[in-house]
Amino acid sequence: MSELDPNVHPDAKRETEILAAESEMYAPSAETVSNAVVPDYLALRQTALEDIEAFWDARATELVDWYEPYDRVLDDSAKPFYKWFTGGKINIIHNALDRHVKTWRKNKLALIWEGEDGEQRTFSYYRLWQEVNRFANVLKSMGVKKGDTVTIYMGRVPELSIAMLATAKVGAVHSVVYGGFSEAALASRIEDAQSKVLITCDGAWLRGKTINLKDIADEAVKRSPVVQSVIVYQRTKQDVRMEQGRDYWWHELMSLPIASPKCESEVMDAEDPLFILYTSGTTGRPKGILHTCGGYQVYIAATLQYVFDLKDEDRWWCAADQGWITGHSYIVYSPLILGSTSFMYEGSPDFPYPNRWWSLVEKYGITILYTAPTAIRGLMRYGEAWANRHDLSSLRLLGSVGEPINPEAWRWYHRVIGKENCPIMDTWWQTETGGFMITPTPVVPLKPGSATLPFTGIDADVVREDGTSCDPNEDGYLVVKQPWPGMARTVWGDPDRYVEQYWAEFSKQGWYFTGDSARKDKDGYFWIIGRMDDVIKVSGYRLGTAEVESALVSHADVAEAACIGVPDELRGNVIHAFCILNTGVTGNDGLAATLKQHVRTEVGPIAVPSQINFVDSLPKTRSGKIMRRLLKAQVLGQPIGDTSTLAD
Ligand code: WT7
Repeated sequence: MSELDPNVHPDAKRETEILAAESEMYAPSAETVSNAVVPDYLALRQTALEDIEAFWDARATELVDWYEPYDRVLDDSAKPFYKWFTGGKINIIHNALDRHVKTWRKNKLALIWEGEDGEQRTFSYYRLWQEVNRFANVLKSMGVKKGDTVTIYMGRVPELSIAMLATAKVGAVHSVVYGGFSEAALASRIEDAQSKVLITCDGAWLRGKTINLKDIADEAVKRSPVVQSVIVYQRTKQDVRMEQGRDYWWHELMSLPIASPKCESEVMDAEDPLFILYTSGTTGRPKGILHTCGGYQVYIAATLQYVFDLKDEDRWWCAADQGWITGHSYIVYSPLILGSTSFMYEGSPDFPYPNRWWSLVEKYGITILYTAPTAIRGLMRYGEAWANRHDLSSLRLLGSVGEPINPEAWRWYHRVIGKENCPIMDTWWQTETGGFMITPTPVVPLKPGSATLPFTGIDADVVREDGTSCDPNEDGYLVVKQPWPGMARTVWGDPDRYVEQYWAEFSKQGWYFTGDSARKDKDGYFWIIGRMDDVIKVSGYRLGTAEVESALVSHADVAEAACIGVPDELRGNVIHAFCILNTGVTGNDGLAATLKQHVRTEVGPIAVPSQINFVDSLPKTRSGKIMRRLLKAQVLGQPIGDTSTLAD
């Protein structure tokens, strides 16, 4: 592997923060511990690692129903292609919906939604089940069957969840592309997944304006003609072009007789594919992470129950987008498996005013709020008066995900939002891990900025290049030494890439390498430092330097490009780009603006560099690899470290 260098600290500020917060402990109250769903969690953690199969076997029996039992918990005969619960027959929709409508939960609220414009919609388990059945029948009538892929590109509306659930119900594989991605990104993902059906919206609301998703979808379909049918959910009622014989309105299909509210869930093997989710890696090509039917649902149900302590009376708000893994695991699937009530909000946290979120917590009596550090920092900026106008006393637990939370934001979240009564669950995990990996539960004493301890049954460690464990407070590679049921199974259509990306670094030991650097302190608490590879986290969104670089060089004026992440107060990191222009072209502000726009259409708004520098050369190794860490050290004014591999 390439430029991994734990000795160059990506963020000197993080270093100072960790040292300052390491000895600051927040113990849970006696009441929190005695009321916890799993009060003996710390004791359980001690024993689970001795026999992970026994631990996961118990969760798989307790949390989900199987049509037919599995014969083996873990099959490791084809490492690193692990299999879980082999021989078991299951469907996630049976556990998320079908079984609940036969109990008192039938009339319990599954989902409460508020639009950015204030519109409200609610779904009981029964109503959601019917809607999913109806849409599943629509999909079937279009010829969608077990094993087919369906691409979904929508705004944050309940129908996005319904589309995913219906796809899983018929045994097809969904690939949700986040609504903020551009037509080029959508097209390459449709192409890679070979989806014949695309589900989209006319538009989406964002800060009082509409984004024309259907236009973007049309462009994408032009680029990847594999799509035969497009289903369009009407959200904004803006004008869109509908192509006869290809495009269909969601509401028209749902009013046809074929859209009956009865539909049996397809019986799936535990290891059949459930979904593909594209994420960024070290090359520009989209990387489709594959999760399967059995292990994934056991894992997300167990982690949500243990970590967020969900009880029947809770109102759970995971303020992510369904289009990311956080949304897949903890908005769409696991809250339903546990039979809980979720809240979902469509729009921007500060629209029309910076109190929007806090007014929603009060209005809907939210008990658990799970969000990202970038959102907390964004709202913190407006001052605490906006939160103090609202009664937030319904809250009992808070959560954070996506990037390291700086202790300052942690303390603000704890004091201003949680009123010092709500433990904060800082959950470290990845698209590839399916669910939480390093995280507290409500009974674990907290340190601001630390994701605390590996989840029970998770064998995580911080190691040196040779595999030996690091000493306390020594930075190293974050690895996982034993498999877990929620782990990704492969990269869609590219098993070699799966092995290369995650299992090559520590192939001798057979460990999973996360791509992150971390350290453990003297109490064994984990502190995540950041990515060691060419992945940048911008506002919690994951971007590959290669994606942004290939977008830049696809412009006629650019010969070569390199991108780095630079620490930013609000967004965690921002992107700085360095471009070598073609001969005869001069770099100026106008060209920089053009290139930013170009990245916006090629990847999406989140990928737009905050700064573009025009340069004559880029530092490279003798084998021709760009040494991004040198660019970064230069921008940050840090020592440039070892340059022995530098060509020039
Ligand atoms: C990367 C994975 C997991 C859902 C959202 C992100 C970073 C994630 C934390 C955390 C520090 C974190 C890591 C990881 N990350 N959570 N609590 N503390 N870093 O999923 O887009 O696949 O990104 O996000 O760098 O590798 P993802």
